Parts: sequence; C-alpha cells; structure tokens
Amino acid sequence: MRILVVGSGGREHALTWKLAQNPQVNKIYCAPGNPGIAELASCVPLKVDDIAGLVNFARQEKIDLTVVGPEAPLVAGIVDAFEAAGMAIFGPSRAAAQLEGSKAFAKEMMVQAGIPTARHATFTDAGATFAYLESLSGPVVVKADGLAAGKGVVVAPDITTAREAVKEMFAGKFGAAGQRVVIEEYLEGEEVSILALCDGETVVPLMPSQDHKRVGEGDTGPNTGGMGAYAPVPFYTPAIAREVETAILQPTVRAMAAAGHPYRGVLYAGLMLTAQGPKVLEYNCRFGDPETQPMMLLLRSDLVELMLATLQGRLGEVKIEWHPGAAVGVVLAADGYPGPYCKGEVITGLDKVPVGVEVFQAGTAREQGQLVTAGGRVLCATARGESLKQALQQAYAGAEVIHFAGKHYRRDIGWRAL
Ligand code: AMP
Ligand code: GLY
Repeated sequence: MRILVVGSGGREHALTWKLAQNPQVNKIYCAPGNPGIAELASCVPLKVDDIAGLVNFARQEKIDLTVVGPEAPLVAGIVDAFEAAGMAIFGPSRAAAQLEGSKAFAKEMMVQAGIPTARHATFTDAGATFAYLESLSGPVVVKADGLAAGKGVVVAPDITTAREAVKEMFAGKFGAAGQRVVIEEYLEGEEVSILALCDGETVVPLMPSQDHKRVGEGDTGPNTGGMGAYAPVPFYTPAIAREVETAILQPTVRAMAAAGHPYRGVLYAGLMLTAQGPKVLEYNCRFGDPETQPMMLLLRSDLVELMLATLQGRLGEVKIEWHPGAAVGVVLAADGYPGPYCKGEVITGLDKVPVGVEVFQAGTAREQGQLVTAGGRVLCATARGESLKQALQQAYAGAEVIHFAGKHYRRDIGWRAL
C-alpha cells in the first residue's frame, strides 16, 4: 500500500510514524514533510495548497490513500479534488470543512441543531459591532470568521480591548478572514480537545486530550499553536463523555449530513467544561497539533485500518483499542516564539534521547548536513507511561538532553490533571 501524507509539522510526523507501522504499507510520501519525517517517508517538495500538483503526484505514484494534516487544503477543497479524480483521501470535503473554515457557519449550525455553545452574534461592519459591544459588559471573545492560523481569537477582558480587536480585524489584520467577525460570550471552565472519527453517520470518539495554548507556565502569557498536550484527561468523566457524544458530536454529524455535507474524517471539538455542562468553543476539521503526538503513542489499533473504515462508512464495526496509561508531548520552541523567533540554530542531542521517547519534528530543516531550527515550534518530545507522572518523567528526560540556542519549553505540561 502506498500512502501520501500532506503537511510538514509534528502532527504529520506523528501520523506518518503511526501509519508506517501497518505491515501492508510499503511506501509513504510526504508533501512537503520535514527532516524527521524524511526518516520514515520520501519527502516531495509540493506545497500543501498546491492541490492540482498533489492530485497529479498521487495519480502518477499510484497512491492508495492520502492523509491531510492541516486545515488550509481541506477548507480549499483538496478532498473534493482527489475524489473527483477517483482517489481515496482522508478528510472532510470543502463544504464539511466549513465547520473550521467559517466560525459564523459553525455557530449557525450549532444554534440550529441546539448544540451547546457560547451565545454569539455575527457582524460584517465595524459600526454595528461597536454598537453591539456597547450593550455588553466584559469579558467577551472576538473571533475572525475565517482561517487565521490560530491567531484570530481575542479573549478581551473588557469592552475597550474588544473594540480594539474589532477595529484591527476590520482594518484587515487577518485579510478576508477578518471581514466577518463573531462576538462571543466568555465561557469559564476547563478546556478539553475531543477528536472523533466520523464516516458521515457514525461517530467514534478518540482519547480526550488537553492542549496548553499559553506560552507561559501556569497558563500565562500569549497564545501559541500549543506548547504541549497529554491524554487521557482524568476530569473528562464517562458521564461527561456520554453527554458530549449525545449532545454535541452526534448532533453535529447529523446536522452536517442533513445539510448535504456529510462529515468524513476527524472532527475536533474544542470544548469548555462549564458549570452548565460541556460547550463547544470551536470545531477543527483535522487532527490537533500537538494533541496528535501523544495520541498516536497511545493508539494500539492500526491507523490505516481506522482511516479506511472512516472512508468506507464502516465505523459502526470498529472498536478502537488503546494502550493503558497516559502519554504526553512537550513542545520545544524557538527563542522569541510565539513572537518573531530565531531560525538556523543547530540542534544537537537527539541521539541522547532515552529509548521510548519519540521526538516528533516540526520547525526543523537540514542545512549542510546539520539539523537546524526553522520554525517556532521546533520539536515535540513525546512519551507514554503507566501513569501521567511516568509519561511526564520520560518526555522531560527527552526534552532536557536536546539542545539548540534559545530552546524554551513549559515545565508544567499536565499540571491541571496532576
Ligand atoms: P479557538 O481558536 O476558537 O479555539 O479559540 C482559541 C482559544 O481562545 C481557545 O482555546 C480558548 O482558550 C479561548 N476561547 C475561545 N472562545 C472562547 C470563549 N467563548 N470563552 C472563553 N475562551 C474562549
Ligand atoms: N492544538 C490546537 C489545534 O490543533 O488547533
């Protein structure tokens, strides 16, 4: 079997690592990939948004299954293009990916389907937004409608800050993505990432996980793409899981099917566990990064089989198996991240990482034979253990022996669970 993975981050490295464990897989390509992925797959210099190029490549190389990591090509319709060419691809169609591609679309769907989420209003001009803000008192959340690389959400402590955010969005800070703005009620509680395989009809939740979005320990400082994640989440009880399945995941998939956009692929619901029950903060139409890294270490079932069952509408027959214990991923970031950061710093110590720790690469490059930093989130030291504590010990033992100038990481991943 021949597989093509689209993307170049730690998530794609972890997916490739897991896909490669299926004995029927004899060739994996990754576009564009990274030096870590290159140890498992042949990297091809095609950009993730070069949909025509990717379709041609997959056709020429007789790819049996394409797996898409990032949201941008999904929202742009890569799945529709592959399916039109008669090729199997894991991910939602362009219409279904609107759940992530347009926050206004997602909110509208939730309201119509009665799915619990923050109260909201959508605007297309600054004046009306300001007038609405005057009727509120802080804190509120301001969201650019479209894709903004995870930066389009401002949690404003007061109305003055919210006005400032609205002004910037309509002034073009996020281009077209910010020409429609969603104002949302601020929700309090614990955040949890619930990913589920969906075949258009059946929903099979994966292990609950928790990301750490703030750069600083104790969840302080600016938001990042995610500084670390662990799974499972001990306070996500079986009762909450049942409620999420019946009140959120299943209604979402039913609503998408009823609207003529059956959802196939992995659905990521970012939830807030509030005093009134779980509520949806956002949907993503793909695997999470860094949630995927620990999740792939915990997954005992074969990922290729799960993806094929998803595509073929067979999830009803599937029972996912997990390794016991817990897993954690600690992100090693470049100096300055999430602001402007350094690149080109030499990375050493990967050969000293203890056995059992997987170091998934993200922002790395090879220059004159040396591995160097090339992005904000550089690596993710990932480990599994009998308990979260053990997994943390392992992952941090890996994080410590890796060196590059300016390396920084949070030393408190998993603190909310401990
Ligand atoms: P999103 O991209 O929608 O997940 O938003 C990014 C982050 O902003 C989330 O992970 C939350 O921490 C926070 N956030 C988003 N919406 C809300 C909300 N309604 N109330 C409180 N925090 C929120
Ligand atoms: N970890 C957050 C995300 O993947 O969107």
